[in-house]
Amino acid sequence: MRSLSEISLKRIFRLRTELYSESDPMLCFGKLGMNESDLVIAGQSVINQFKGTGVFQNADVLNLAEYGYGEPKRDWVDKVIAKANEIPYRRIIAVGGGATIDIAKLCIFGDGRSVKQLFADKSSLTKRRELIAIPTTCGTGSEVTNVSVVEFEDLNSKLGLQIDELFPDRAILVDGLLQSLPYRVFAVTSIDALAHAVESLLSPKADEFTDMYAKTAIEGIIENLTEVQTKRCLPKDLQKSLICANMAGIAFSIAGCATMHALSFPLGSNYRLAHGEAINAVFGGVLQYYRSLDVKLDKLEKILMNAFGSDDDPIQDLLDLLNDVYDCPDLKALGVTKRECKEMAASVYENQQRLLVNSPITLNADDLANIYITCL
Ligand SMILES: [Fe+2]
Repeated sequence: MRSLSEISLKRIFRLRTELYSESDPMLCFGKLGMNESDLVIAGQSVINQFKGTGVFQNADVLNLAEYGYGEPKRDWVDKVIAKANEIPYRRIIAVGGGATIDIAKLCIFGDGRSVKQLFADKSSLTKRRELIAIPTTCGTGSEVTNVSVVEFEDLNSKLGLQIDELFPDRAILVDGLLQSLPYRVFAVTSIDALAHAVESLLSPKADEFTDMYAKTAIEGIIENLTEVQTKRCLPKDLQKSLICANMAGIAFSIAGCATMHALSFPLGSNYRLAHGEAINAVFGGVLQYYRSLDVKLDKLEKILMNAFGSDDDPIQDLLDLLNDVYDCPDLKALGVTKRECKEMAASVYENQQRLLVNSPITLNADDLANIYITCL
């Protein structure tokens, strides 16, 4: 019998990943019962936090800091994959932010293929390992999506591999892992999660189910950002941020991210901005450009009016909040010129159609350049 997806019915909802929560990280790791057939993939901060506790039991631990820093780049991700392929692990356990989880997703095949080969031939990929994702920031949503994003330096941009094999089998929300999060990481990952929810809400693929998750995520993220707006510290209820980021991930795993994400990728690659910072740099410009084209934003405006208790200019209320919680990168000061805006726009138009198709209005390369220019 053919599957439903093969008979062209419109799928309105799916959640492939089982969700769990456990407040205490030590209890969480203990309950996973790790052994020699497990590979934990984590960054330096997680390794430092649990050094000497024996919490990973007999699992092998791969420290990403030994391979590279920051956003995943193709050359060092290839080395991580090669290391993970040395032993036929049964489970890959990713503990970290979006980059860590995205890299771990590429280690589930265990077939010796490089990043370039994996991205080039999606059709023949067979998942051989279980993937457990434990996020340590409140933005990525990667723990419930089927996308892995890697920077291709030869393209000066990032590309995403999107196939269902990349859905983690289990995601565990552990708010205890967020207690020592630096404010900067909290702020930029919250802005990223907000962008996931807003782009999902405005996507032509949105439906009642994705709208419900996106709305709840937007409301909760705004609540927490408003709480810390003037103090710039962590909010009291980090579990809320974690759950809202997860819900935004569920929404965009179906409705998709769009223009903000497409435009953020070359900015992040060329000017060494963290993903959430690059998103922040274009967030306002994209919404203002949609407004200039009379794109219907009423779904978003209604949620924002309720959230801010004001109906004057809810989009501006949101942008003011973002401005208060984190200093937006100054693209001019970073050296971005109008000419580079046009070059980045051409690259986005050529390489990011996967995302641009989820925009609420069709945008050409000139539109994309104009958005960049309004962000200068
Ligand atoms: Fe994102």
